[in-house]
Amino acid sequence: MDGARGLLLALLLPRLAAGTPGTPPGTAGTPPTTPPDIAGTRGTALATIPGTLPGTTGSFRPSGGGRSVSRVCVEQSLVFRSNTPYPTDTIAVPGGHDLFCVQLDDSKLNYFRQPQDIKESHFLKFLEKYGRHSFLAPSQVQPSVPAFYRAGDPILIYFDSSSVLSTLRQPVKVGASGLCVDGNPAGFLDSKSTSCTRIFANLSKSCSTDPALDAASYYRDFTVLKVPINDIIVQSMQVKVSAVAPPGAPHMEHNTCINVVSEVIYEIEFSGTHGIQSVSVRFKVSNISGNSGSSLQQHFTLHFWVSASVLSRLLLSL
Ligand SMILES: *[C@@H]1O[C@H](CO)[C@@H](O)[C@H](O)[C@H]1NC(C)=O
Ligand SMILES: *[C@@H]1O[C@H](CO)[C@@H](O)[C@H](O)[C@H]1NC(C)=O
Repeated sequence: MDGARGLLLALLLPRLAAGTPGTPPGTAGTPPTTPPDIAGTRGTALATIPGTLPGTTGSFRPSGGGRSVSRVCVEQSLVFRSNTPYPTDTIAVPGGHDLFCVQLDDSKLNYFRQPQDIKESHFLKFLEKYGRHSFLAPSQVQPSVPAFYRAGDPILIYFDSSSVLSTLRQPVKVGASGLCVDGNPAGFLDSKSTSCTRIFANLSKSCSTDPALDAASYYRDFTVLKVPINDIIVQSMQVKVSAVAPPGAPHMEHNTCINVVSEVIYEIEFSGTHGIQSVSVRFKVSNISGNSGSSLQQHFTLHFWVSASVLSRLLLSL
């Protein structure tokens, strides 16, 4: 078979399998959940085209319903290395060369894209026709999130103004340079200290804009959650971070950036499963000078301690 015919077939088949072009099945009278059963048609057809050309496009509906996927396939022997971010698979072609296929993300092929509106008056009719029981196997039932921190759990913080839930961070160093990585979450009961380096290409710019240098970013605008709740955050679940003698914002004076945070020390009081009771933070600041290539070593410490009330109860029970 000549290559051109193979390509033509490959381009035609997806259309045939998808039904009339322009009217996705499921939009006219058929509820979106039951597209016509053409399971496997396309995959089989594509796989039996001999001499499929590199770059051939095809679509494939897996049997048992579901989403359509769009694939670009080449003969597997032509692939030396795949760096594609998309899922890939191989299709065995009986008596031919196996195909290496990349699944593209093509939402147009999704039959669920234009669901039919169901009016309340028609609901029962649809329910009768398509309704069925749904169930979860016991192993699929999601365990509810325990409402207390366990050792090592990330400590949740909450920004009231933006309703953003995040985690308390403890920057750590990476690589030989020891540069700071800010994303590392602080772990519950994980009392420890970390150090890392920041390098400034433009000190005066960093001095006024880099939140890592400003003490306020380590306690202002957020609260720490007593226990790890992630749905409705009520006031009683939030613990304010109290700053001990907080320094002012960093600013440039002549060639020097004044009040740069060089050390952050959190003291976190906890009470068993009642969670975090109080959080305080202390700072050390320094002044750094120089215009280019200046750097700063920062230290971060988290220290957990048991509430006195818990301690006395423990002692009393001895
Ligand atoms: C450094 O940043 C400041 C403030 O953003 C800017 O005015 C200045 O031009 C920058 N200097 C260099 C060398 O880029
Ligand atoms: C930083 O500079 C300010 C203003 O010159 C000074 O008051 C302060 O003591 C300096 N801080 C340190 C840690 O050297």
